[in-house]
Amino acid sequence: MPETVFVLDFGAQYGQLIARRIRELGVYCEIVPYDTPWNTLSVRSPAALVLSGGPESTLVDDAPEMDPAIADSGVPILGICYGMQLVARDVGAELVKLDHAEYGPATLVVVNRETPLFDGIPDESRVWMSHGDSVESLPDGYAALASTPRCHVAAMGNIKKKIYGVQFHPEVVHTQYGRTVLDNFLREVAALGREWKMESFLERSVEEIRTRVGGDKVICALSGGVDSAVAATLVARAIGEQLTCIFVDHGLLRKREAEEVLAAFRELLHLNVIAVDARERFLHKLRGVEDPERKRIIIGHEFIDVFEHEAAKIRGVKYLVQGTLYPDVIESKTPQSKAGQKIKSHHNVGGLPEQMGLALIEPLRALFKDEVRELGRALGLPENIVNRQPFPGPGLAVRIIGDVTQERLEILRDADAIVREEIDGATLDPHPWQYFAVLTPVKSVGVMGDGRTYANLVAIRAITSEDGMTADWARLPHELLGRISSRIVNEVQGVNRIAYDVTTKPPATVEWE
Ligand code: XMP
Repeated sequence: MPETVFVLDFGAQYGQLIARRIRELGVYCEIVPYDTPWNTLSVRSPAALVLSGGPESTLVDDAPEMDPAIADSGVPILGICYGMQLVARDVGAELVKLDHAEYGPATLVVVNRETPLFDGIPDESRVWMSHGDSVESLPDGYAALASTPRCHVAAMGNIKKKIYGVQFHPEVVHTQYGRTVLDNFLREVAALGREWKMESFLERSVEEIRTRVGGDKVICALSGGVDSAVAATLVARAIGEQLTCIFVDHGLLRKREAEEVLAAFRELLHLNVIAVDARERFLHKLRGVEDPERKRIIIGHEFIDVFEHEAAKIRGVKYLVQGTLYPDVIESKTPQSKAGQKIKSHHNVGGLPEQMGLALIEPLRALFKDEVRELGRALGLPENIVNRQPFPGPGLAVRIIGDVTQERLEILRDADAIVREEIDGATLDPHPWQYFAVLTPVKSVGVMGDGRTYANLVAIRAITSEDGMTADWARLPHELLGRISSRIVNEVQGVNRIAYDVTTKPPATVEWE
């Protein structure tokens, strides 16, 4: 069993980021709820524990607390923000509520170098703060290690007990030496090695899935996207033929996509895939529907119907695999991100597991998108799947504004293929995160040869982004835009005008829908 660090999550904004940084430092890390009992944790022999930040104050009566046995376990502990205050409070430190909370950058001054926590870090550096309470003084055995102008005890430690705390956030990039602080804790305090890599995650997940599933059967909906592809390949690695994948072709995919995806899954990855041609059915249901929200709902319902129907033919299924990623988990936790929830509900076939009485397998739940890509590579997935652009579950239906017909789908597919081909072939820095064509409901007058035309307006969208939550429009070279434009109007019948979308998100969204 690899050395594992557990992050006790007190409702932190950056909880998974802590876990991810620790994995980046070569130590396997998982996040668990703050109230996980020591008995549960001890079974997995934690190598170290990190207590995350959280929105509460330790000064209120019902402040979230951890099992007291954890502090006495002898396992090295690093408390971050709320986590540090909780440790401090429990050992009898004095805490105060600040008149003005401290948010954002601050200058950290190291005041004590008897512990290894700040090894390799200059006396002064920039850190990121976000707190309303502050530790004022510490009991015997605990030393103040650093301070900021507004925070007397910005770091604390007890060498003998290997219990440390930092008031700032070492996991965010705005903290200059955050990585070094975490590394010092892992290496110097907890004496951990650097053995962990994606291959270890792969092996470990394979074993866990095998043990959990036993001889039962599992199904998975493949969309062609990287998440479901990686999740399915991982599960197949664990249980082989016990996994059946279902690929529903709703007819709203990009040019040649269905064929390519199926070929990759079957021939390259040797997945057991049932392909359902439901193109007619979706088109029929979408006839005359212009409202984008209704389109999404119809597609979601039809998808579940088709999937359930196919799944019912396989006897003895107990589990459903979903490619839920960590950002999907946060999006569904945050009340304000309605769009996020919607994305998730279609993309992850929401509602299906309960309806079908299936248990969920979500092997990617702890990972970020780029980690999933890395896992995909470790599983031997080809680059064209690993590097696939994000693509909405309802497909081209949200990129055709207005009625979705066979004819309009063909126009959009051809225009979109040109956009992708040209941008894929260009050397751009940064390479846009996502790029596609949109078919608008606008028609305008043009002239071709000697004749007047009255044809469609196609919009091009190309964005740079980290995660799709915010986006900027890509500054594509004019020559490239010119080439895309002239190729589309010349090669795609029914299009005589091209526009380039120069809006950011927010206020616009990535998709037009
Ligand atoms: P928006 O349009 O909300 O898109 O700015 C943000 C990112 O999410 C993708 N997207 C979806 N992905 N199912 C998905 O799996 C959906 O229903 C969906 N809608 C939008 C979009 O392509 C962009 O990358």
